This record gives sequence, structure tokens and C-alpha cells, in this order.
Amino acid sequence: MAKQKTTVGIINNEVLAFTAGRDVELDHALITVDCVGTAAHVTMLSKMPVKPELITETDRKKVIEGLVEIIGLAQQNKFKIKLADQDVHLAVERTLTKKLGDLGKKIHTCRSRNDQVAVDLRLYAKEQILQTLEEAAALADALTAFGKKHEKVPMVGRTHMQPGMPSSVGLWATAHAESLLDDCVSLVNAYELNDQCPLGSAASYGVPLPIDRQLTSDLLGFSRPTHNVLYANNGRGKMEGIVLSAMSQVMLTLSRLAQDFMLFTMPEFDYFKLPAEFCTGSSIMPQKQNPDVCELVRAKASRVKAAELGVYDLIKGSPTGYNRDLQDAKELFMEGIATTRSCLRILTPMVSATKVNKKALIDGFTPDVFATDRALELVGEGMPFRDAYHYVKENLHELDSIDPTEAILLKTHMGAPLGLDWSYFKERSAAVKATVREERKAFNKAISKLLGVSYPVK
Ligand code: ARG
Repeated sequence: MAKQKTTVGIINNEVLAFTAGRDVELDHALITVDCVGTAAHVTMLSKMPVKPELITETDRKKVIEGLVEIIGLAQQNKFKIKLADQDVHLAVERTLTKKLGDLGKKIHTCRSRNDQVAVDLRLYAKEQILQTLEEAAALADALTAFGKKHEKVPMVGRTHMQPGMPSSVGLWATAHAESLLDDCVSLVNAYELNDQCPLGSAASYGVPLPIDRQLTSDLLGFSRPTHNVLYANNGRGKMEGIVLSAMSQVMLTLSRLAQDFMLFTMPEFDYFKLPAEFCTGSSIMPQKQNPDVCELVRAKASRVKAAELGVYDLIKGSPTGYNRDLQDAKELFMEGIATTRSCLRILTPMVSATKVNKKALIDGFTPDVFATDRALELVGEGMPFRDAYHYVKENLHELDSIDPTEAILLKTHMGAPLGLDWSYFKERSAAVKATVREERKAFNKAISKLLGVSYPVK
């Protein structure tokens, strides 16, 4: 069988293709962060107190210049990762060695591809989580605006899918908004756990040269380095699982929102009307306007959960130290994040353009929906609750004349249909957006300083 020469030895072609797998494509998403990680590592090496100096200040500048050039190429989709490179890490080393000769061969001192890919994925996750938070806050805002606009529109509140008590469109919409804001807390937790630098942990067991892992972490704008070098590598896969688990929470909210839309846009309900441009038709039934977006969001929720479980399964029996199995978590990780983000982005404009059919919502009320409210009214007049309950049960006919619009006006306590605190939603969403702004600003500042050019590189 044919073989070929690679940076790390001669490898059979079939084996090379099998082991590189999808890295040759997927790693294109990691080129910039890989260069950023290398810039920090080389800067740290240039400050290492050894004689003779491993990397001089002039060397450091040359390497950084080469890395910035690669980032520029990546931005124009012009940086190629070849099969013989196996992955982005060796593609960058090959390119720098071609440009800088022996200096290029020094950049991998005191690190391994294991901590390198681990730091790349954490830098990637950082930006992806921030984007997800921004998109989730935008959808929470859209739901809140929808709820506020239809705050006083009555809607039958259901349990067991059966009519229960008078509710409102505002309550329905902001229930999903609040869920999403809680999901943002999970995303921020994932962000914080991810915000630890594994670089310099090398192959997991420390190196016999005085590297400064705190410096590397600071240069990359991480909040701290992971402490134990073995855990730094064992944490790969675990980190992806934590992030996917937060994504999966977001998808759970989206799937239930999508399910509600499918139900309440059925002609039999007709509460809401999805914008026509968010529906697709049938190739045979001319009249059809199908809620395909909602169905696919529901399907994607399963796929993101499957990605999370997939990563879990890959690592649950993984022995300590790096195992190549971890490479297969990359695809699940990237796809799970991309899927979640695409669902957030498609639902936001759909929610904003959805129409509310007030008449259908009011027509949906049958007198029995007021039974509990009536019983509580009797309680207010002094009757014990159980007696009031039985009285109303036996006299349901007395409920005929109640107006749903007026019924919800009586529910004014915290979080009830007319007790929704709009500033609560606004402030939580604003806090998410502020976190994103601050984190991004601090990160861009650190990386701009490291690279000596404004980051993100244009
Ligand atoms: N592409 C590899 C991965 O994603 C990089 C690390 C390879 N390390 C190794 N020891 N073969 O896991």
C-alpha cells in the first residue's frame, strides 16, 4: 500500500485518511484560534529563563508575523490543511517552518498536539458561547416583545392539554422567554468552566523546562490555567459535554416553543398565524402552509441531545490521558453548537412576525375555564376552599356570563398574567448582553496585544 511522508513520519495512505478523519475539513474552523494559541505559547517560550535563550525577541516577532499572515489567509479561505498534515496544528507548523526554517521547528517545544487542540477548542467554545448568548437574548427579547404587545389578550391556560384556567398570550410568550434566560445561565456556567487554559500541559505529564503556564493563560485572556496537567487533558471531551449540555437546554426550550406554535397554529385552534414566508407548501396540496421550521427545530433538539450523549459515550470509558477517541468529539461538538445557533436565529424573526388572532383566542374559552377562579372568588367571600370547589362543580352553569378579558385583569400578583414585570425580562436580557460585551472586549484586547495587530484581524 502507498505511503507518504508527513511532519511526524511515514504513514500508510489509508491509515492517514482513516485517522485524520474529518479533521482536515473541521479544523478549518480552528485555524485562527490555533495561531492565537501558538502566539501565546511562543511568547511564553521567549520569556523562559533559560540560557541559551530558546526563542529571542526577534524570533518571537517573526513567528507572530507568520501567524498573523496565516490568520489573514484563513479569513479569505486560502489556508490549506493537507491530508499529510493530519490536522491544523501540523499544517501551521509546516507553513511556519517553510517560511522561517529552523525557527518554525521550535514552536512545538514544551507542548503537544493534545494541549494544543484542547486550547483551540476552548478558544473556539468561548466565541461560540458568546454568539449563542447573544442569539438567545435576541430570541428572549422577541418573545418578551410579543408577550408585551399581547399582554391583555386572553388565552385558555391548559393542563393535560385540556382547558384549565384563564391565561394570556403575554404569560405564554414570557414563559418561554424566562426559560431561555435560565438557559443563558447554563451557557454562562459552561462559559466559566471552559474559561481555563490547558496550554502547556503538553502530553499531560509536565515538562522538564521552566514554562510559565500562568503567563500563557494571561496572554490568551483566560481567567485562569487549569491546574493539574493531567486533568487539563482529561478535561477534553468533558468540556465539550458541558457546553453541549447547555446547548441542549436551549434546544429543549426551543423545541417546546416550536411544539406550541404547531399546536396553536392548527386551524382547529387558529390562535396564532405564522408568517407565510416561514412556512413551506406541499407539492400536491395547493392550499398547504406547513410549519416546517417548527418541526425541524423539534428534530434538531433531538440531534443536539444526541451530540451531547455522543460525547459522553465517547469519554465515559476513556482511560486517563489522551486517547484518539477524543478527536471524534469534535464533529459532534461543532455541529451541536451550529445547530443550536441556527435554531435560535430562525425562530427570532418568526416570533416577531407571528400574528395573534384575538377573536379565536377569546372564542376558545368555554365557561368551565372560569370554574377555579369562581371557586376562589367564593373563598374571598369567606367559604372554605373545598366547599367552594364542590359548589362550583355542581353549579357549572353559573359560569356562563364571565368575560375572559376581565377575568385575567384580576390576576395581578407577581408573575401572573397581569403581574408580569416587564423590567425583569429586560434586565435579565440586558445582563446577558453586557456579559457578552465585556467578555468579548477583554478577549479582543488580550489577543490584540498578543498579536500586535487589532483583533479580530480584518
Ligand atoms: N487531531 C487530533 C485530535 O483532535 C489532534 C491530537 C492528536 N494527538 C495525538 N496524540 N495523536 O485529537
